[in-house]
Amino acid sequence: MSAEAVVASPIMCALYEEAKRVAAYPTTVLIEGETGVGKEVLANWIHACSPRRNMPFIKLNCASIPEPLLESELFGYERGAFTGAKREGNPGLFELADKGTLLLDEVGELSPAFQAKLLRVLQDREVRRVGGSWSRVIDVRILACTNRNLRERVHSGHFREDLYYRLQVVTLRVPPLRERPEDIPVLLETFLRRFSDEFHLIRTFSDAAWQALQQYSYPGNVRELRNLVESLCVRSNSETIDWDDLPAHVRFADKGPDCIENHSLDSQLKPTRERRPRTLREIIEATERQALTEALASASSIRAAAASLGISHATLLRKMRQYGIRGRQTPR
Ligand SMILES: Nc1ncnc2c1ncn2[C@@H]1O[C@H](COP(=O)(O)OP(=O)(O)OP(=O)(O)O)[C@@H](O)[C@H]1O
Ligand SMILES: [Mg+2]
Repeated sequence: MSAEAVVASPIMCALYEEAKRVAAYPTTVLIEGETGVGKEVLANWIHACSPRRNMPFIKLNCASIPEPLLESELFGYERGAFTGAKREGNPGLFELADKGTLLLDEVGELSPAFQAKLLRVLQDREVRRVGGSWSRVIDVRILACTNRNLRERVHSGHFREDLYYRLQVVTLRVPPLRERPEDIPVLLETFLRRFSDEFHLIRTFSDAAWQALQQYSYPGNVRELRNLVESLCVRSNSETIDWDDLPAHVRFADKGPDCIENHSLDSQLKPTRERRPRTLREIIEATERQALTEALASASSIRAAAASLGISHATLLRKMRQYGIRGRQTPR
């Protein structure tokens, strides 16, 4: 499946524009964001937009390799450096990434001892293989990703302050999906199309399913959305993915856990979307929803709709999320 980034919301368009500007320089970039928001996707974009795009792009997940192996993995080793080492020695990832880009993923997981070793390489721009007696000069652009708040890790004493400042020369934060609801419909459509093509299926969402998928909060961000669409595509036994096909936590996302418990056995139950409002609060909400929908339909952008309603852009985004209203798709 193509890993091309879907970027629709103003906040993501601005982030990708900024990343493209930064990509032109060999500057170190720290990419922060919750799990599944697309940090690696953004790192791919930076490398692809950089003058190094035809040179190696090497990725290392710092949390996936046991610390004793990390040193030889990153810095390489000379022959005879340790038992089991290859006779001829081995270049490390820094050497392999020479003239290209090295992505240090989950960099917040490194131990303080290893952080010190990494800092030395970043400062000196040269690496010495394990068991080696001389250093090689390297020209590597560093990108680092973390789903931890590194500043807090510095304050709590888990992350070296000097390394932090080396890494965060430019910090880019990928916002969670709940802060950019305009991306949700575009991502849903894109993944539905991609999976339908890949699995040779014809799949569409019913209106009710579409509404519920907009309202859901996606705590696992884009990864959760993508996996949900894949699962819906392959599990549905008809062309239309209906509200009934959605998992209970998505169907009843806006109604709390009690509702899931009460209704999980009753797959016939549909949300009461058409019910007439009764309480004052329901009447106000219905009126507000109507006003937002009309303003969004007639304005050229979400920002313009907010202005016509006399509210801030952020307030409108929040209310759209609250009511599960889709925004217009921003041209890429
Ligand atoms: N903007 C996007 N367009 C298309 N696909 C995306 C986008 N953002 C994320 N994805 C997809 O969501 C999944 C998670 O993305 P990615 O691996 O980049 O997240 P991450 O922030 O690095 O997560 P983690 O912190 O768990 O490593 C991937 O399958 C990726 O292709
Ligand atoms: Mg990642």
